Amino acid sequence: MALHKFDPYIDLEGEILQLKNQLNAVILAHYYQDTEIQDLADFVGDSLELSKRAASTNADVIVFCGVKFMAEAASILNPTKKVLLPDLAAGCSLEDSCPPKEFAAFRDKHPNHIAITYINCSAEVKALSDIIVTSSNAEKIINSIPADQPIIFAPDRHLGNYLIRKTGREMTLWQGSCIVHENFSERELIKLKTNYPKAHIIAHPECPASLIEYADHVGSTSSLINYATQHDGDEFIVLTEPGIIHQMQLNAPNSKFYDVPSLNKAGCTSCSTCPYMRLNTLEKLHACMKKQSPVITVPAETAQKAKKALDRMLELSL
Ligand code: 13P
Ligand code: SF4
Repeated sequence: MALHKFDPYIDLEGEILQLKNQLNAVILAHYYQDTEIQDLADFVGDSLELSKRAASTNADVIVFCGVKFMAEAASILNPTKKVLLPDLAAGCSLEDSCPPKEFAAFRDKHPNHIAITYINCSAEVKALSDIIVTSSNAEKIINSIPADQPIIFAPDRHLGNYLIRKTGREMTLWQGSCIVHENFSERELIKLKTNYPKAHIIAHPECPASLIEYADHVGSTSSLINYATQHDGDEFIVLTEPGIIHQMQLNAPNSKFYDVPSLNKAGCTSCSTCPYMRLNTLEKLHACMKKQSPVITVPAETAQKAKKALDRMLELSL
């Protein structure tokens, strides 16, 4: 196997900024990216904000530092732009849990239902859906659906159950989950709360109900950052991917943040970083801009159908 030739003296950040100017590119990053990528990005946000930025950018190239479904959404919403993703293998366990063929059969089994689908899914599943939601607009969008309209919700059963509790709406749920949020250790959470009794527990709604029960605030990644910013000086136990703590520290510099370890299959505690998000590195970001590859491509028919569902999300979240 050929060894990857990498010059350790290269000024990666400097070259990335130069390439950005040459390509007339914009670098968008999710909060779960490595700190050094977040610091270089033009914009760091949650999945709804990133979709909006991608839809409205004037840049020729969108360099998407996040996972593949997010980069696909950027390409679908702004189809004339070239969208680059540093590592094409940056998938998502929720996307994997919902294969398009099985989702199509699930839809067929519920012909009178509207399909409201979490953005964490493939372009094909988006094309089979009526409305896409993210964790920051799902409650509002579900509340806007007439009360007599039955709903199927995919792929995250924990987010789905959270939304059922919040809105009081019955929904038929696809049984997917996120490997990061599902595996936080309740025992480690309790230990942290015992050690830091004044800490606010803040949680992403992809967590199971058994963890959300402890939370003082539940919301999307941006909502969790806003909550921490409003309580600068306090302590926080963070039930989401720890990449988010970088922006929390910048926005609430007088606060202390504690991330919760996961309990892995061997029974020992381990870190809770997203193995997909963290496939992107500064080196791969540099390489993808230099080679202008890998490029995200979505077949035209799929993209057209998926765009309808994404556009409905943008209309309904105004
Ligand atoms: P947000 O929309 O809150 O950024 O969440 C995206 C995600 O993948 C959470 O795991
Ligand atoms: Fe997917 Fe979970 Fe990673 Fe978010 S944290 S990208 S839901 S695997």
